Amino acid sequence: MNESFETAKIPVAVVGLGLMGSSITTCLLIAGHPVIGIAPIESDLQHAAGRILENLELSLKEGLIEDDPKSFMQRLIISANYDLLKKCRIIIECTLENIDVKKSVFEKIEAVISPDAILTSNTSAIPISDLQRLTQHPERFYGLHWMIPAFTTRFLEIICGEKSDIANAEWLYKLAHQWAKEPTLMKKDIRGFLNNRLMYAMYREAFYLVENGYATVDDIDRAVRNGPGYWITLMGIFRWMDLTGIPAYHAVMKDLFPTLSNTTEVPALIDDIVKEGGTGVINGNGFYSYTPEEAKCWADTYAEFSFDLRKLALKYPIDIVDKKLSKLA
Ligand SMILES: NC(=O)c1ccc[n+]([C@@H]2O[C@H](COP(=O)([O-])OP(=O)(O)OC[C@H]3O[C@@H](n4cnc5c(N)ncnc54)[C@H](O)[C@@H]3O)[C@@H](O)[C@H]2O)c1
Repeated sequence: MNESFETAKIPVAVVGLGLMGSSITTCLLIAGHPVIGIAPIESDLQHAAGRILENLELSLKEGLIEDDPKSFMQRLIISANYDLLKKCRIIIECTLENIDVKKSVFEKIEAVISPDAILTSNTSAIPISDLQRLTQHPERFYGLHWMIPAFTTRFLEIICGEKSDIANAEWLYKLAHQWAKEPTLMKKDIRGFLNNRLMYAMYREAFYLVENGYATVDDIDRAVRNGPGYWITLMGIFRWMDLTGIPAYHAVMKDLFPTLSNTTEVPALIDDIVKEGGTGVINGNGFYSYTPEEAKCWADTYAEFSFDLRKLALKYPIDIVDKKLSKLA
């Protein structure tokens, strides 16, 4: 196992340069890796470099990088040719969320990569053990689940499937700290991984409250922004219970759990929107409606906010208390 974490010596590839692939490539360039971007679709070949440069320019404006964005682009090769993957140590598949597309892409990747290369997928929800069965070498296959914008967020899930070699996953976990991530290593696969399981439990309850007339969509958003939104970036949920007194949670759970939604149906509220063609800010129709100006302003404001939140998260890393106490010692 290669124990080096010198990013300049670890060539990485991203296959599929859409929204996420471009964002992940930006993160890897900022971290110092040489990057091969495989863009098998013509429109990506034309536009991906521009999208990545735009991300780097924004990063310069927001103080994430200090050097000329063009100097980062010198470490990037974008091509439709899978043969360029030969020398890469890590390959990040980032194509459509479609198992047939992913299978055909894995075949093309595995036809050229070296036996000790690590193959990963940025799938949002397909179980890693299922994807792993589509590969020739399941032991070197992992989920690597990023959050948009991948070059500002601290989130990264590294997921082992049933047959993954844990040693590679541990190496990825350490390396991900060079990407300015505060990663999570899941040694056991489960549908939805970690973050989506937690979030979907919350989405289900939110739909239940709206559909049964207890609150509006707007009420829920305000409550989440100002409730968990106020403490969650600092301490997650278990430390929050420690900080605020565990017996109270124990008492509430006994009475509240039986009343929480456990429906297995997709809620009518989201079903109706989808049936009517609503996509959210993309076409202006979602839980709220948007003019094109409002839609763009929300996307821009989220990008601005993610840089600010990153600064705050970096100021309060997971070992903040250890650091403070060691200064006193
Ligand atoms: N968008 C998000 O916030 C997000 C977050 C986490 C994970 N993901 C996952 O990342 C992956 C990519 O999502 P995205 O949002 O970037 O989608 P996207 O539609 O922006 O990009 C998909 C890319 O796949 C390419 N592609 C299509 N068919 C292909 C083929 N046959 N061979 C090779 N490439 C092909 C497209 O040209 C495009 O570049 C998906 O699995 C998605 O579920 C997305």
